[in-house]
Amino acid sequence: MVKIIQLPKILDRRGNLSFFESSNQIPFEIKRTYWIYDVPGGETRGGHAYRSLQEIVIALSGSFDVHVEGKFGNEVFSLNRSYNALYLPAGTWRSLQNFSTNAVCLVAASAAYDEADYIRDYNQFKSFLEHEQ
Ligand code: TYD
Repeated sequence: MVKIIQLPKILDRRGNLSFFESSNQIPFEIKRTYWIYDVPGGETRGGHAYRSLQEIVIALSGSFDVHVEGKFGNEVFSLNRSYNALYLPAGTWRSLQNFSTNAVCLVAASAAYDEADYIRDYNQFKSFLEHEQ
């Protein structure tokens, strides 16, 4: 299920520290980390689903909206806190929009990059969902 995972936040007078560990805060083993940055105003990222990949998405800096669609229906998550991780299970269509200036989107994924795992066609995604149910 798509959900916000609240990560630990260690506060002291020197500032804040948050973290995540595979199979601890995160419900999968992390095999890859990538980040999206310098997104020009008005641009959209994502616009696809994965057949088997699981991810967490964090607004490390700034903010953006994540529009998601899956078995559960549609939802929009506005990410703007670096201690919130959005968990996206396999079979979730996602579209990242409304990036603020200097937004940094950190993604931790359950597998190495594999183009064959992408569903980039929306109609194909809809039939994938039907067959999953
Ligand atoms: P894509 O997943 O389409 O970007 P987004 O969903 O963030 O809009 O990836 C864009 C390009 O980068 C595409 O050519 C594949 C490549 N890429 C990698 O080589 N490795 C990776 O880990 C990722 C996420 C993308």
